[in-house]
Amino acid sequence: MLRRLRQRPEWKFFGVLPRADRGLGVAWWALLVLRGLLPAAFAVAMGALVGAVQRGESLGAPLAVVGVVFVLLQVLTPIHQAISANLGSRVAAWLYDRLTEACVRPPGVGHLEDPKLTSDLTVAREFDLGMTGPPMHINMDFIAGSLVEMIGGLASALVLFAYAWWAPLVLAGAWLATHWLLRESAVWHDRNTDEVREAQRHADYAYRLAVDPPAAKELRLFGLADWTVERFTSRRKLLFDRIYRATRLREKPLVWSLLLLAAANVAVFWSLADAAAGGRLDLGHLVAYAQLAVGTSMIAFGGLNWALDGAAAPVAAVLRLEPAMAPAGALAAPSQTVRSARGLPAREIRFRNVTFAYPQSDRPVLDGFELTIPAGSSLAIVGQNGAGKTTLAKLLCRLYDPQRGAIEVDGVDVRDLDVGAWRSRVAAVFQDFIRFELPLRDNVAPSGAPDDAVLAALAEAGAAGLAALDTPLARGYEGGTELSGGQWQRIALARALCAVRRGAGLVLLDEPTAQLDVRGEAEIFDRILAATRQATTILISHRFSTVRHADRICVLEHGRVIELGTHDELIAERGRYRTMFELQAKRFGATEDEEGKAYDVLA
Ligand SMILES: Nc1ncnc2c1ncn2[C@@H]1O[C@H](COP(=O)(O)OP(=O)(O)O)[C@@H](O)[C@H]1O
Ligand SMILES: [Mg+2]
Repeated sequence: MLRRLRQRPEWKFFGVLPRADRGLGVAWWALLVLRGLLPAAFAVAMGALVGAVQRGESLGAPLAVVGVVFVLLQVLTPIHQAISANLGSRVAAWLYDRLTEACVRPPGVGHLEDPKLTSDLTVAREFDLGMTGPPMHINMDFIAGSLVEMIGGLASALVLFAYAWWAPLVLAGAWLATHWLLRESAVWHDRNTDEVREAQRHADYAYRLAVDPPAAKELRLFGLADWTVERFTSRRKLLFDRIYRATRLREKPLVWSLLLLAAANVAVFWSLADAAAGGRLDLGHLVAYAQLAVGTSMIAFGGLNWALDGAAAPVAAVLRLEPAMAPAGALAAPSQTVRSARGLPAREIRFRNVTFAYPQSDRPVLDGFELTIPAGSSLAIVGQNGAGKTTLAKLLCRLYDPQRGAIEVDGVDVRDLDVGAWRSRVAAVFQDFIRFELPLRDNVAPSGAPDDAVLAALAEAGAAGLAALDTPLARGYEGGTELSGGQWQRIALARALCAVRRGAGLVLLDEPTAQLDVRGEAEIFDRILAATRQATTILISHRFSTVRHADRICVLEHGRVIELGTHDELIAERGRYRTMFELQAKRFGATEDEEGKAYDVLA
């Protein structure tokens, strides 16, 4: 029972409050309880005051008590609201800190690509953006408000025992029954179901398609305006339908609730009136008990409301993600003592019987993969989309470890190298390379380099004169500028070339030129090969016709090397390379000067 309770998101939520800020957490609870007790205290104080008036006693003390309680009732609410907002912000910040740490710290990237973790990650990432519910600093006040009411109602009922044992039971029972009667139909229970979340997500997406500038082009070209509007309205309608149905559902339970409440209140107030008329209850007590009986109704309005669902879901998600992400993003520990990565690779990089499958996938991407790359040479890896080229690059950077086999650099398993030291030997540009919203200089040398090295790298990548080194590469910043896809790729290449100038020994380029025209691509491949002659260079491409100047070309298919050799050797072999080369060269030849996009015959 206790274990089940501890598993509840609500339990986890309240557990996080003192961890986010102990002082504020304690103050929040203290004020919560105090505010909950005040209505009952006010009723008792009023009763005492009226009793004193009736008996002609001194009014000083009872008046003072009524005054103090009244003032507290007035001032505690705004103070509690301020504490709620503050605590809510701290809880949000605490969750974001934990999530950021959990995402950034693991040395691998498996935890960010694991389908088992995506749903929690979505909830945890977006909870405070106000898309799935109010942000935490607002939610805290809703939660506090409804708990105050609950405590207030229970406290009133408790004091009512002084009148008659049955009165609080009947009243509190009736008011509590409203929760039970309306539970199935309560709107707040419909707020956060999977179905509602999904409808909300679809509606939000359609809305963003309609209002976001990047979608505007395709929306018009494909004539999707009606489709978008229809999608938005149908999902919105679904949401409203559910709310309407929930409201309709309440009709019958509502009648039952009313009858029950009427009966309970008639019984208690009848009894009070009868006792007063019979002289068994003086005016002071009557005033107090009547107020307490009314105050008991707060039970119906308080409780654990939907705001708590919204606030508890991300807490539970983050607390689940933390322990799950660390192992999912972990890398194998070195088998022996960690070896130095200095000067690597000096002899060769060797994939030895490497087998790798992504987490939660039973189909290996690489299966018994064998390849040796002599240090200082250039190798082009070509293959169709999905052949496993990017996966190969990720393994080489140790973003994942293979399940079987090993990648060896100069005979040393990369798992026995310090990850950071090995990565600093690698200059890699991935297809989805990062576009820092930072000055050009920082985009070329994120970890710093002298300006002349940055400028030389830019020139080598054919990006000289694109912008000043201080220009932020994003509009929306003062003096910022927007680059085209091809220009960005040149910046990314310059980043790799700059790293080579700073001593990186392995250059890994994963389709870095897919957005350049074919001529530009061939030209830049040649430039890169010239600029990285002293390094080991791996060029990945799905265009067979632009990699001919690499020392060797490796054709990858279904996770294995099917052909390997120089351009001339592979042409002479009359195999897959030659077929694809001729097919693509013919098509490129016909439309050589146009943009490269149309050429992706394999895409
Ligand atoms: N993060 C991932 N999780 C699961 N499967 C993936 C992931 N990334 C790629 N894959 C799958 O692995 C295969 C190889 O992908 P990839 O290495 O990106 O191919 P390429 O770069 O040659 O186009 C594809 O079938 C792809 O669907
Ligand atoms: Mg790829």
